[in-house]
Amino acid sequence: MDIVVQPARKLRGTIMVPGDKSISHRAVIIGSIAEGKTEITGFLHAQDCLATLTCMRQLGASIDYDPRHQKVTIEGKGLEGLEEPQDVLDAGNSGTTARLLLGLLSGQRFFSVITGDNSLRRRPMDRVTIPLRAMGARLQGREGGKWLPVSIEGTRLHGIKHRLRVASAQTKSALLLAGLYSSGSTEVQQPASTRDHTERLLQAFGAQVEQKGNSIAVVGGCRLQGQKVEVPGDISSAAFFLVAGCLVPKSEIIVRDVGVNPSRTGILRILQSMGADIELFNRCEKLEPTSDVVVRSSTLRAVNITSEMVPDLIDELPVIAVAACLASGTTTIRGASELRVKESDRLAAISSELSRLGAKIQELDDGLIIEGVPRLRGGRVRSFGDHRIAMALAIAGIACESPVIIEGAEAVDISFPDFFCTLESLR
Ligand code: S3P
Repeated sequence: MDIVVQPARKLRGTIMVPGDKSISHRAVIIGSIAEGKTEITGFLHAQDCLATLTCMRQLGASIDYDPRHQKVTIEGKGLEGLEEPQDVLDAGNSGTTARLLLGLLSGQRFFSVITGDNSLRRRPMDRVTIPLRAMGARLQGREGGKWLPVSIEGTRLHGIKHRLRVASAQTKSALLLAGLYSSGSTEVQQPASTRDHTERLLQAFGAQVEQKGNSIAVVGGCRLQGQKVEVPGDISSAAFFLVAGCLVPKSEIIVRDVGVNPSRTGILRILQSMGADIELFNRCEKLEPTSDVVVRSSTLRAVNITSEMVPDLIDELPVIAVAACLASGTTTIRGASELRVKESDRLAAISSELSRLGAKIQELDDGLIIEGVPRLRGGRVRSFGDHRIAMALAIAGIACESPVIIEGAEAVDISFPDFFCTLESLR
């Protein structure tokens, strides 16, 4: 589907963004293996999290979902209560679903198979299957389990100490979930810290989780107790509006109830260092800290993003690239080769599509060099079926001189089905 985005003269208003994707996935998975009731409010109603919900139902979880109120109620089955699925589990486009379920299912007493869509079947699973095998998991797939579909012959696992090669919250979470089903303790050492939603939730549900620096250990066999989980707004979705608010003159946008877990707020730090007028207010310290965020039109300058900054803003780099196109000076992004194995090759997608709009971008193996230009022109661009590329291009469109036509704009349904309506509401 093509969508035409018209340039905006100003953007003003107060919005909510949908629930955090990472937390929504985890709350459903952990609630399903806890004992008693789990109530999730603010659940993200979008394709990725619905894939997790459907997979967990196929695994016998008793889940009641009220999409109108984004409320999920789970009657937990306990650690050993899941059942063999009758069919292949389809993670759709969702890497989080596939990787976390590989961890969860490795230690069950039954057989299962996970697959995904065209994009997900091309994303590497060996970062998860290799350490899971070291825990005793029996996994089969193409090229030794590198690509979905992967079959899982559930078996007894034993805890290991594993050092991640890439800083990945999905891999860490897969191993921690497998660790719940392992003898002894499972320790994951990260090269850099990554989003810690799994650790926070496991702890809240009563698991024994210990964190020392960038190492996280979980003890196998702990019983989990159902909880109430309030999912905050997704800062990765808010990011599009924060950049739009900076770029469009005479703008002021308030985004309510955004999750501001420090492992996710790299976008705020980077935009502020670029000169963005962003303030946080109504901060609330809960299981996941939240805040309202206000952004006003700003004059942006270039920034230097290095590898150690990347994990905290990994999903925001496409829209940061849009900001950099219109900032003064030359922005460098390095150490971001992980972007090549996301829903699309995001380094290639950003550089080809923003160049079509007049951006000056050089693609590197592990990043981008972006020379700011005074303005972008309209044109026709492609999403490559990637939700974050579609939304980043829409923000470029808002800040362009003439309309931008986005091919494959329906990709926003993966994480933010109301994205275009929310954007229009601010004009
Ligand atoms: C996620 C972790 C990140 C992120 C993805 C969601 C998660 O992926 O890019 O959108 O929920 O754990 P990696 O673990 O591959 O870095």
